[in-house]
Amino acid sequence: MSAPREPRHAPVLVAEVLQLLDPHAGQTWVDCTIGAAGHSRLIAERLSGSGSLIGLDQDPTMLELARARLADVTGTKITLVHANFDQLVDVLENQGIREVDGVLADLGFASDQVDKAARGLSFRDDGPLDMRLDPTGGATAADMVNTMSEAGLADVFYEFGEERHSRRVARKIVERRATKPFATTSELAAVVRSCVPRSGSIDPATRVFQALRIAVNDELGALDRLLAALPRIVKQGGRVGIISFHSLEDRRVKQAFRDSPTWEPITKKPVEASDEELARNPRSRSAKLRVATRT
Ligand SMILES: C[S@@+](CC[C@H](N)C(=O)[O-])C[C@H]1O[C@@H](n2cnc3c(N)ncnc32)[C@H](O)[C@@H]1O
Repeated sequence: MSAPREPRHAPVLVAEVLQLLDPHAGQTWVDCTIGAAGHSRLIAERLSGSGSLIGLDQDPTMLELARARLADVTGTKITLVHANFDQLVDVLENQGIREVDGVLADLGFASDQVDKAARGLSFRDDGPLDMRLDPTGGATAADMVNTMSEAGLADVFYEFGEERHSRRVARKIVERRATKPFATTSELAAVVRSCVPRSGSIDPATRVFQALRIAVNDELGALDRLLAALPRIVKQGGRVGIISFHSLEDRRVKQAFRDSPTWEPITKKPVEASDEELARNPRSRSAKLRVATRT
C-alpha cells in the first residue's frame, strides 16, 4: 500500500488562529474548510480530553488528505463530512449537535488543489477548464464561458475580479467560442492575455480566473449563507474565526461581525501575516483573519 501523499498546503496565521480562537479541552469545534487539516490538527490536539472536531470540505480529495493528517490524533472525536459549509446547520443536526464552542473557516482553495492542473484552477498550467472545488457536481468554468451571455460574463469579470477590461474580454470570448468552444485553461488564458494589458509582474489572466472560480463555486453566496447561519450554531461566549483572501470576502465578514449585536469583534482590524510568515509562505500575503465572540 502506498504511503499517504504529503499535503502541499501550508496553513496561514497558525499561531494567531490558536491564540485568538483559544480552543480548549472538552470543547466542540467545527472547521468549515478542513483542507489538509493544517489548522485542524492543532485545534484537535487542544480539544483532547473528550472534545470533538467536525471537519467539512466540499472536495473529497482534501478530506482524504485531512484524514491521513489526523490519523494519529487521540482523545478528540473527529468527524469528517463531505459538504459545503452553507449546509452546516444540517450537517450538525445529522450529528445530533445543536451548538458548538467555535468555528473556523479558512476560505478559498488549498495549494494541493491549485497546483493540480487537472482541476483547471490555474492559468499557469494547461488543464481542463473546470475550476469546481467540489468535482462531484455542478457547472464547470467551461460550461460558463461557453454558454453565458456576453453581458453576463462581463458582469462576472467586473464584479468578482474587478477587471477593468471586463467588456472587452467578454466580447473576445463570445467571438472565439462561436468557432471553437473553450475546453482548456490555456485557451482561455491566451484570449484574456490578447486583450488585457500587462501591468507589472501580474499575469493579465489573474483577475478573470479569480472571477470565474468565485462564480463557478458560488463562493460569495456560500459565505453569506454561512455568516447568516452562524448565530444559530455558536454558543454564547463561543468564537468564530474567518480567514479571507480578497476584499469581497473580507468586506462581508467585517460587516457581519460589526453590524449584528450577536457578535463582539475581538479583532478590530484584520490580523495579517508577519514578515517572517510572508517570507516563508507567499500565499499568506493576502490573508486576513477576523475573530468575533458570540454575545
Ligand atoms: C484554504 S483551504 C483550507 C486549508 C486548511 N485550513 C489547512 O490548514 O489545511 C480551503 C479549503 O476549503 C474548501 N472549501 C472552500 N469553500 C468551501 C465551502 N463553501 N464549503 C466547504 N469547503 C470549502 C476547499 O476545498 C479547500 O480544501
